[in-house]
Order: sequence, then structure tokens, then C-alpha cells
Amino acid sequence: MKVDDMHFKLKDSRDAIIRSPREEDVQGTLDYLVKSSGETEFLLRYPEECAKFTPEGERELFESWEKSDCETMLLCEVDGVVVGTSMVTWSNNIKTGHRARVAIGLLKDYWNLGIGTKFFEEMIKIAKSNPRITQMELEFMEGNSRARALYEKMGFRITGVALNAIRLKSGKFLNEYLMIKEF
Ligand SMILES: CC(C)(COP(=O)(O)OP(=O)(O)OC[C@H]1O[C@@H](n2cnc3c(N)ncnc32)[C@H](O)[C@@H]1OP(=O)(O)O)[C@@H](O)C(=O)NCCC(=O)NCCS
Repeated sequence: MKVDDMHFKLKDSRDAIIRSPREEDVQGTLDYLVKSSGETEFLLRYPEECAKFTPEGERELFESWEKSDCETMLLCEVDGVVVGTSMVTWSNNIKTGHRARVAIGLLKDYWNLGIGTKFFEEMIKIAKSNPRITQMELEFMEGNSRARALYEKMGFRITGVALNAIRLKSGKFLNEYLMIKEF
């Protein structure tokens, strides 16, 4: 699904755009994936696990997202750089089509500038535009207080915990918390 460009100001007054990815964003998106994966343990991948992402693969994904009626990828651009992405997805299955899943990540230099809030406003709008969807769902890792604060601000509440869902390279296990926002 393609969305209209959404222009807004960061908390530091710089201009930012949230929009659908375009062909020219392929390299920027790949750079974002690798860099963000090395900046925080709170994303699901390590940088070396990004080797499977290729320009051709990204191009195909962009095309399939644009055609899809149940997947929307958004990116945030600041000064020509892809600084973050978010996804909202759901299925067309009868039993589970009321559940939209969301995921989000930003480069570290762009945390706490209001981008996460804007991404969520857009993703909530997209999910609400499908009358079948009655709830949005996400997970966050134990210790990710910034993410939790954002999600609670956007109306999500914790509904469950997956014990030891994450194992870091150090061998440390982390719980993962499930959150839901009902419409
Ligand atoms: C989590 C993340 C998406 C949040 O996006 P963001 O753009 O930084 O969030 P925003 O600036 O819109 O809002 C963050 C809010 O949390 C608050 N906050 C920041 N750090 C906090 C902390 N440690 N504890 C509590 N609240 C905190 C901020 O004050 C802000 O609230 P406000 O708008 O009422 O002032 C982003 O920081 C990020 O990408 N982190 C790394 C990857 C990640 O964790 N992804 C999510 C995986 S589940």
C-alpha cells in the first residue's frame, strides 16, 4: 500500500518526511538496516544478519509492498537520509484478519525527536482505515523503556510476556512483552 508523503518538524525544528519507499531509497534502506542493527540490542537482528538483504531483494520488496493490501512499509527521511522505518501488516485470514502487527526502528541519532510518535500516528490511521481490524499488536524487549513509553503513549497496554524469547550474543536471555491497542 502506498501512502501520501507526510511532512512534519522534528523536536529540533528540522524538516522530516514520512513516506512510502521509492526505487532511489534502496541503498539508504540497506544502510539504515545495517547501521541500526549495530546501534541497539533492541532490534531483532545483528548487523551480520543483514547480509541477506540485497539491492535486488529490496527492490522486489518495495514493489510487493506497494501492490499489497495488507502490508505497508513507511520510511522517515531527514536531510536526504533514511533515518527509520516502520511496518504495519495484517493477514486476510478470517480468524486473524482483525489483528494488525506493527514494527518500528530508528537510527540512534534520531531517537527522542518525535519520529516514533509520527510513525505511530500514521500506522494507526492505516490500520483504522481497514474496518476489519480491531486491534494492533507489537512486542518489545525487556529493558526497552523508551519503546514502552512511546507505545503506552500511543494507547498500547501490556497483555503478556514470552519468557526468554530473546538470547543475545552474550548468552543473556531477555523476556519479550506483548502489547495490544484495541480500537
Ligand atoms: C523506540 C523508538 C522507536 C522510539 O521512537 P522515538 O522517535 O525515539 O520516540 P518519540 O521521540 O516519538 O517518543 C519517545 C517518548 O518516550 C519518552 N522517553 C524517552 N526515553 C524514555 C525513557 N528511557 N523512559 C521513559 N520515557 C522515555 C520521550 O520523552 C517521548 O515522550 P514524549 O513525546 O511524551 O516526550 C526509537 O527510540 C528506536 O528506534 N529505538 C531503537 C530501536 C527500537 O527499540 N525499536 C523498537 C523495537 S520494539
